[in-house]
Amino acid sequence: MTDDLSQLRAEIEAALATATDLRAWDAVRVATLGRNGSLTALLRDLGKAPPDQRRERGAALNQLKEALTALIEARRVELQNAELDARLATERLDPTLPPRPRDTGLIHPISRTMEEIAAIFGAMGCAIAEGPDVESDWMNFSALNIPAHHPARADQDTFYLPGRGNKPPPVLRTQTSPVQIRTMLAQSPPIRVIVIGRTYRADHDATHSPMFHQCEGLILDRDLTLGHLKGALIDFLRTFFDIGDLPVRFRSSYFPFTEPSMEVDIGWNRRTGELGRGGDWLEILGSGMVHPRVLANCGIDPREWQGFAWGMGVERIAMLKHGIPDLRPFFESDLRWLRHYGFNPLAPTMLHEGVER
Ligand code: DAH
Repeated sequence: MTDDLSQLRAEIEAALATATDLRAWDAVRVATLGRNGSLTALLRDLGKAPPDQRRERGAALNQLKEALTALIEARRVELQNAELDARLATERLDPTLPPRPRDTGLIHPISRTMEEIAAIFGAMGCAIAEGPDVESDWMNFSALNIPAHHPARADQDTFYLPGRGNKPPPVLRTQTSPVQIRTMLAQSPPIRVIVIGRTYRADHDATHSPMFHQCEGLILDRDLTLGHLKGALIDFLRTFFDIGDLPVRFRSSYFPFTEPSMEVDIGWNRRTGELGRGGDWLEILGSGMVHPRVLANCGIDPREWQGFAWGMGVERIAMLKHGIPDLRPFFESDLRWLRHYGFNPLAPTMLHEGVER
């Protein structure tokens, strides 16, 4: 090997020996074999050598390249092993340490409230029924005994979608009540279902959002009375709000799909917002005995079957339970709000928290 090549080899060996970590090692590798590396340059210049020396020089260079490549690789293995040994020596796992708090994410108050509703009515034997957000006019209105031009339609600030032909245009469902119809068309009584889902109305302020959530219930059997309705809803409200003696008032009202219809109020203190005492009443949900015409619209004989239904706003009861003053942040995805009002995902949804008090 010519002197310049021996010298290069010695230099690179020395550089590899002083490279004590993989970064330094990589710098040596690039400086030798990289595109602008010293050996690469020599190989590139081979063509400039006098023709009679070219062959010999080429062989020597290739030999050197092979040798250096092997040396460099060997050093990599050596350094990697040393690094691993160092980590094994310093890193220890102590299984007795308590888990460190981690950013695990939080359950949104709406999800939590829906879980609580499902747990409570689930314990009463209700299954969950579902329906689409885009509904036909018939499902959302007519089948529920809300005929065309009925003022109840105007009450609900409906979002209409483009229609086809001369059929009434589809709507974004203004209530979860159409799922009552879907359930009665698909199943025969007895029926016990709740519906929890998104609903839409063209309305937007501190207590109204164009998209919100409702929970609906439908219970049909042979001998159900207003007494069953009252018992089920009082039980639900006292369990949900965790106040065993929560005052509950039934006030006669009107809904097209129930007869008689009742609005349900709970006792609270209007001034302080405290629930359960204070002498004031707060409207919380609508309910009633299912209208015979609604049963008949679904092919169910109202002389044989009767029952009750109810509907309420999920955000509204969540706001009341947790003292959340404004509806809008529910849908703003602001992490600071969620960290304040969110729920630990590992905490179970308790069914009977505080029924006794
Ligand atoms: N659908 C009604 C609304 O959105 C709420 C409601 C009232 C639902 C009475 C019912 C019911 O099932 O029986 O305002």
